[in-house]
Amino acid sequence: TTINWSLAQAEKAGYKHFMLKEIYEQPRAVADTISGNLPWFRGEMPIKGLGNFKPERIQIVACGTSYYAGLVGKFYFENFARIPTEVDYASEYRYRNPVVNENTLIIAITQSGETADTLAAMRLAKERKAKVLTVCNVIGSSATRESDAVLYTYAGPEISVASTKAFTTQLTVLYLLSIHFAVRKNLISNPDIYLEKISEIPSLMEQFLEEEKKKQEVKNLADRFHKVSNALYLGRHVNYPIALEGALKLKEISYIHAEGYPAGEMKHGPIALIDENMPVVTIATKGRVYEKILSNLAEVKSRKGITITVTNESCKEVIENSDFSIIVPETDEFLSPLINVIPLQLLAYYIADFLGYDVDQPRNLAKSVTVE
Ligand code: G6P
Repeated sequence: TTINWSLAQAEKAGYKHFMLKEIYEQPRAVADTISGNLPWFRGEMPIKGLGNFKPERIQIVACGTSYYAGLVGKFYFENFARIPTEVDYASEYRYRNPVVNENTLIIAITQSGETADTLAAMRLAKERKAKVLTVCNVIGSSATRESDAVLYTYAGPEISVASTKAFTTQLTVLYLLSIHFAVRKNLISNPDIYLEKISEIPSLMEQFLEEEKKKQEVKNLADRFHKVSNALYLGRHVNYPIALEGALKLKEISYIHAEGYPAGEMKHGPIALIDENMPVVTIATKGRVYEKILSNLAEVKSRKGITITVTNESCKEVIENSDFSIIVPETDEFLSPLINVIPLQLLAYYIADFLGYDVDQPRNLAKSVTVE
């Protein structure tokens, strides 16, 4: 008898691709990342390698999806810890002669810990006496060896070139770190309130993923739209970087041109692109910019764009103004990116799969880019 079995199949645990498996691993990955980082979270003890260092400012350097995690991190560090934060593409950082000194904390975000541009940015900052902390998924990687402090994401091996679970675990670490700094600056006295909020995320993710398995709403949308040649992704506040990430996912694996934009900026350019053939994916969940997003949505509708929204069940006005809505569980607005990104990952995944592309190994891309 022959056994119809391959190692690759076994490793995919029944999923068609690593990317889908990794999307479905996110509840576990985020839960592990919370518990793995609990020892320092409450701020009673400093993070190993940082001592009593109090950053006056933070500069985040990263590439690709990790850069978008950094953009969300900026909201966390500024809102909770009141630390001015800049975010740079690592490949740009060196060439702008950054103002960086011994009071600056550099946060390098890198799944692999081997991205050449990120390593180069870290080295420049080190030369200029900054403290360097790396948020990384690979134990013992170059970035972890070259930094003063390391915080791990506990995503487990990420095989798919398009990053998914590394991203949501990076957001988890950045959130925990911002609360840690806020406690150490006496801005927050009860970190457990924040811990409770983020601890709900894995089960909310699970809830959405299980619903999708049953109802296949995102998959059906992908079926309907996989032949488009352009798409626009809109978001605001912490979900603006999620719009960028949604567009990146689509570009990476489906080879469809997509652009992410802050919804309020649409009227300064991209609105000219909107007609009855343009799908516009808008993140419109509850939060401080909800009303604003609603009017952005109306602008798209009045130009006959196809409105696809990621929203909550209670957002009736959004649902009424959408041609298609994907309902995600409601959560704290600062944590909503961790949930909202999942339908966008799935949308890109299913579109690429309907198009018959090699989802895990997209053309021209590498899992880690070790050249500058
Ligand atoms: C490559 C990968 C992306 C990743 C980026 C940064 O472009 O294809 O998925 O986001 O590198 O990688 P890093 O390992 O530094 O997070």
